[in-house]
Amino acid sequence: PAPGWSIDADVVVVGSGVAGLTAALRCEAAGLTTVVVTKARLDDGSTRWAQGGIAAALGEGDTPAQHLDDTLVAGAGLCDEEAVRILVTEGPDAVRRLIATGAHFDESTDGALELTREGGHHRRRIAHAGGDATGAEISRALVEAVRARGLRTIENALVLDLLTDARGRTAGVTLHVMGEGQHDGVGAVHAPAVVLATGGMGQVFSATTNPAVSTGDGVALALRAGAEVSDLEFVQFHPTVLFLGADAEGQQPLVSEAVRGEGAHLVDADGVRFMQGQHELAELAPRDIVAKGIMRRMREQDAEHMYLDARHFGARMWEQRFPTILAACRAHGIDPVTEPVPVAPAAHYASGGVRTDSHGRTTVPGLYACGEVACTGVHGANRLASNSLLEGLVYAERIAADIARTGTLHPREPQPLPVSERPAHPLLAPEARFAIQRAMTRGAGVLRSAASLAEAADRLHRLHADARDALDENGKTAEPGVDTWEATNLLCVARVLVAAAQRREETRGCHWREDRPGRDDTVWRRHIVVRLNPDRS
Ligand code: SIN
Repeated sequence: PAPGWSIDADVVVVGSGVAGLTAALRCEAAGLTTVVVTKARLDDGSTRWAQGGIAAALGEGDTPAQHLDDTLVAGAGLCDEEAVRILVTEGPDAVRRLIATGAHFDESTDGALELTREGGHHRRRIAHAGGDATGAEISRALVEAVRARGLRTIENALVLDLLTDARGRTAGVTLHVMGEGQHDGVGAVHAPAVVLATGGMGQVFSATTNPAVSTGDGVALALRAGAEVSDLEFVQFHPTVLFLGADAEGQQPLVSEAVRGEGAHLVDADGVRFMQGQHELAELAPRDIVAKGIMRRMREQDAEHMYLDARHFGARMWEQRFPTILAACRAHGIDPVTEPVPVAPAAHYASGGVRTDSHGRTTVPGLYACGEVACTGVHGANRLASNSLLEGLVYAERIAADIARTGTLHPREPQPLPVSERPAHPLLAPEARFAIQRAMTRGAGVLRSAASLAEAADRLHRLHADARDALDENGKTAEPGVDTWEATNLLCVARVLVAAAQRREETRGCHWREDRPGRDDTVWRRHIVVRLNPDRS
């Protein structure tokens, strides 16, 4: 359908996690007319679920240089060093500005920030809030700030496609909005600058720590718009996700790295610690190494999960330091105070995404990306724990500065392209979501091989072909709606992810090829960058 309504702005921010709301607040502060659109409610994205915290060199004796070193080691040779330098040097002040915006972090009795450790960090440098509810506090503070500043927000607004002008410059986005009064149905926000901050794509797998809204919408939009996307094969599997059964589907409860940071041990079915001797940091090795250690021991013991043992914390520490995790475990009948917690790896974070430069600019003029949807180069082949909230903050601020400098100088075309009569890609039926998730979990999960990836690629291809055939026959596939668009977006990103994973014939960071067990720096110390023809259907 053609857009039923449209509004104009200088900037439209798509997404409302730490990256989106920070970008929006800074754009508004720079005097730009800013609209925030978000798929569900303002606080429904991944940020709210972040537990461990936000990493920055804020502690005595810590330096950005040490933070840089740890980030580069975790990234397994594929970080963009300059992007990391920006992250770690601008990070501490960005966190201070977040605190000034209203976020309360946990402090020790002398009023200093309380800092913890997580995998891959050689120092205590993770600031946290509410014990293990850091993301919820950041989200609360930013949502409150957005409301206090009176920023225009449209909730329940699924972004469909990028609008471009005749010269290929960004001209806004089309949206499908559900039940928001005057902005109901399909409409458009016209703006010369669009900031994608739509979060991740964890829902491409059956079991993930990500909420249901993390369906790769931003990466799919960028691919359809002809933007470059990079590093999609590097999906991070969090080592310690509460194990609720081999068939558990959807969002699973996270057991933060910070639990290990405070001294919890990983033990096998016999109660034996198994990370010692595998890495100098044992349970606090970078995340990919811990996930692999767990998977190996699971195989050796033919077990479905391992255990995280923190009984020695005692009830008081569990209640004060990890109230969210304690409650989640108890809700599932497990008491971490008296028994080890069953854990297994699950999909957690997309290290790759829409490729940007150090100002968050994508390869489409006027289109920016920050947060999990972006690939700024800071994560390389494996993100360092708690660098994601920081990346969202730092790069959102850089984007706002760039738009304030240049973004609205470009003349706006009076008539951006209308929404096409039918989507360029065939829409999938909502049930396809589960078929995609199963194919991805079986073929492109934590352990991959040429054979498993080929099977996944084949299954995904058939789903696409079925939808395309239906389109050819009827000129119409599924009814447009959030479920159908989400399934369509999931298929789009899954296919590119699998193709990248097939292409990378080595094991590096969180990309683990069983048939190519070694890291090959002679061939593969480079990125896989994908750009689709925007007219491809
Ligand atoms: C966690 O608390 O373990 C998650 C931190 C992260 O993903 O960076």
